[in-house]
Amino acid sequence: MKRTLGTCYYPEHWPEEMWEADARRMAEAGLTWVRIGEFAWSRLEPKPGDLQFDWMDQSIEVLGAAGLKVVLGTPTATPPRWLLDKHPDMIALDANGNPRGFGSRRHYCFSHQGYREESDRIVRLFAERYGDNPHVAAWQTDNEYGCHDTTHSYTSAALNAFRSWLKDRYGSIDALNRAWGNVFWSMEYGSFGEIGLPNLTVTEPNPSHVLAFRRFSSDQVASFNRRQVEIIREYSNAPTSHNFMGRITEFDHFKVGDDLDIATWDSYPLGFLEDRVGASEEHQRTYARQGDPDFQAFHHDLYRAVGRGRWWVMEQQPGPVNWAPYNPAPLPGMMRLWAWEAYAHGAEAVCYFRWRQAPFAQEQMHAGMLRPDNADAPALTEARQVADELRAAPDVSIIKAPIALIYDYDADFAWATQPHGAGLNYFQIVFDAYKALRKLGLSIDILRADTRDFSGYKLVLAPGMIYMPHDMKRALAETEAHVVIGPRTAARNADMVIPVPLPPDMPNFDVTVARVESVRPDMPMPLKGGGSFVGYREELEGSAEVVMTLKDGQAAIMRSQNMTYVAGTGDETAWKRLFSELCGKVGLETTALAGGVRCRETASQRIWVNYGSEPAETPVGRIEAAGVLFEKL
Ligand code: GAL
Repeated sequence: MKRTLGTCYYPEHWPEEMWEADARRMAEAGLTWVRIGEFAWSRLEPKPGDLQFDWMDQSIEVLGAAGLKVVLGTPTATPPRWLLDKHPDMIALDANGNPRGFGSRRHYCFSHQGYREESDRIVRLFAERYGDNPHVAAWQTDNEYGCHDTTHSYTSAALNAFRSWLKDRYGSIDALNRAWGNVFWSMEYGSFGEIGLPNLTVTEPNPSHVLAFRRFSSDQVASFNRRQVEIIREYSNAPTSHNFMGRITEFDHFKVGDDLDIATWDSYPLGFLEDRVGASEEHQRTYARQGDPDFQAFHHDLYRAVGRGRWWVMEQQPGPVNWAPYNPAPLPGMMRLWAWEAYAHGAEAVCYFRWRQAPFAQEQMHAGMLRPDNADAPALTEARQVADELRAAPDVSIIKAPIALIYDYDADFAWATQPHGAGLNYFQIVFDAYKALRKLGLSIDILRADTRDFSGYKLVLAPGMIYMPHDMKRALAETEAHVVIGPRTAARNADMVIPVPLPPDMPNFDVTVARVESVRPDMPMPLKGGGSFVGYREELEGSAEVVMTLKDGQAAIMRSQNMTYVAGTGDETAWKRLFSELCGKVGLETTALAGGVRCRETASQRIWVNYGSEPAETPVGRIEAAGVLFEKL
């Protein structure tokens, strides 16, 4: 498939006289896509019912005439101020009951019926007007669901919707009381109408209650999005998408993705490194101008799965951003590298955010492809280079990787509900396993948690998947692949209760987790032969073979036939030792990669990238700092 480039543009930020020159310049730079519209509500409807779409018609016309394809975003992430007068209770309340008010964006509660109707209305206006516009070649719903901590809301609208969600799920209040163990602390309810939201309790609420609320909140995001997609599809055949964020895990992206044609995400490697990777300070210094070498790739693989193969980078960092604790400039070459890395993982398009830096408002310190004075910024030069390279490049097509890693948002909710030790979280465990595999030169597919067919994979990993339905246990026990589970895999039932027989209770696998403990992260628990468990470990019983022990002699990793259980949160060395040994066993070649060097295999080539600030060696030759190397296979 031919890969493409694009940008994000805000015609409403610039005088109309500038649009044509902008469009021409985008096309000349080799861009195909331009996303517009997603924050423009106050200019489209300045007063209730006062529709002013002419300028939008005109801007689409101008962009289309220059040969660009438009991605049209629905503007529901930024409801205008007057809408709050109409629906004062549409804003979300945080867990302390404080309103998350007007003056930035995402100021709405997903459960508010009045806002849902406003969303339907504005989306229908967009879809009716532009559904068959030849220049509108794709749609985006809203903008970054869940960003700025907006998935959970504690309003009365959320409470009512939560009660009916619980009723649908449990049927009777007795069933709910039993499932949650509400006999504990006399928490039993007499009816669904008595159940509150799990905030503002004296001490911690029942984890079953919290997990249910997290699942409910996730479903609210999915149903909000689904409604927009349904309306768009009444009028348009163009594909629908949503731009997800990095490491936002409060709603199930797979469920939202099921209603979309394409998953996209917003990739800000330097912002993330400061803010979301969870890296040491030394690592942050080393990669301050490049980003973490695995964080982007992880999300590329994740969103490829969310989009069932179809995915884009909708926003690519173009230079310094404004929102991280520190906002350095990327090393020259990184804006090209990030694009090529995305293509190597199957991105159909990479769009830089944003076209021209805005001299006003919140993001005035955020770079664009152009400076505020209209001069080229470095991102434009690098994008041009990518465009030239794409013209000359053979098509990049994605192939199935030999290794599958399950990502389960529901497990993330469960870990967040009950981390058991400060800082322990599901994302980190899955990401640690992913990083270790990548540092061995391996390509990985991320799979959704309801996958049951693992054929074609040599290794299948489901670490930390707290609740594992029985049919998945059976599928894993029966697959030909070698399966790695633990820590905490299958540690709770569907309602967040410890199951008996004790976990993991896998078919034909005699390993039982007898006791668990969390300890301070500065008290690593060393393994014999190298590496440690950090923060959490489990004591195992059973007749399976012990393949690695802790220095104190206790079992750390046990195995029976093609299933391996890891009894703790491993550090890099621990995971690498296990994966090197397992790859040898299943016949996968590994290469220990230096520093910031990583690779991904496509159908015809292996694409190498160097996140390091110095040139490095790869098995196929030297790679420059921030360089990309194409190895023909
Ligand atoms: C994204 C968002 C954009 C812009 C950008 C700045 O999260 O979708 O609208 O705010 O960040 O980096």
